[in-house]
Amino acid sequence: MQFTIAIDGPAAAGKGTLAAQLAAYFSLPHLDTGLLYRAVGRMVLEGQTPETAAQRLQPNDLNPSGLYTPAVTQQASRVAELAPVRAALVDFQRDFASQTGGAVLDGRDIGTVICPQAAVKLFVTARPEVRAERRHRELISGGTKISYAQVLQDVYERDYRDQNRVEAPLIAAPDATMLDTSDLSIEAVLERAIIAVKQFSSDRL
Ligand code: DC
Repeated sequence: MQFTIAIDGPAAAGKGTLAAQLAAYFSLPHLDTGLLYRAVGRMVLEGQTPETAAQRLQPNDLNPSGLYTPAVTQQASRVAELAPVRAALVDFQRDFASQTGGAVLDGRDIGTVICPQAAVKLFVTARPEVRAERRHRELISGGTKISYAQVLQDVYERDYRDQNRVEAPLIAAPDATMLDTSDLSIEAVLERAIIAVKQFSSDRL
């Protein structure tokens, strides 16, 4: 049985945490597809061209260590605008999604472009200020010195680029379940998502 759960949403909306927890709950493998763009972004900062970096990407490059600096984050958002980069990363994501038993993938275009046939689609959002606060806390606790105002500006800039790019813009699939996490605890978000998954799967399987 192929059972893909596609989770999309803007930066720091809580989709990564949710995806990891849902994967654990349903015993499915999880791919955070943002890591692919971050790894390509880092390779570009190291001097490679975006397209070559995307073509050469190896699973080893997806180790999150070093992929969350502000510079890599901004570069990831820029390379994600490029059609040849996105095209070079499609097969890796679809192969992951089509594993026997299923998989959870989170990103920006999973329900719309990568896995439009996914059994379950969730679109996870939160207000920009809430997302900036969460990301700021993460960065500070990881040792990065950065102001909240700067993080909020980065969130706005990334949202704008993610939503307005020509290639695979960030948009909810028409059949996605919307989850606004602004005023919900992590536990409450997980609970709602589990209900949505069970609902979708009983409808469709
Ligand atoms: O989810 P994240 O913050 O780790 O993603 C980093 C960047 O990668 C983000 O600015 C947009 C891009 N991205 C994308 O375009 N498509 C995806 N499926 C995942 C991420």
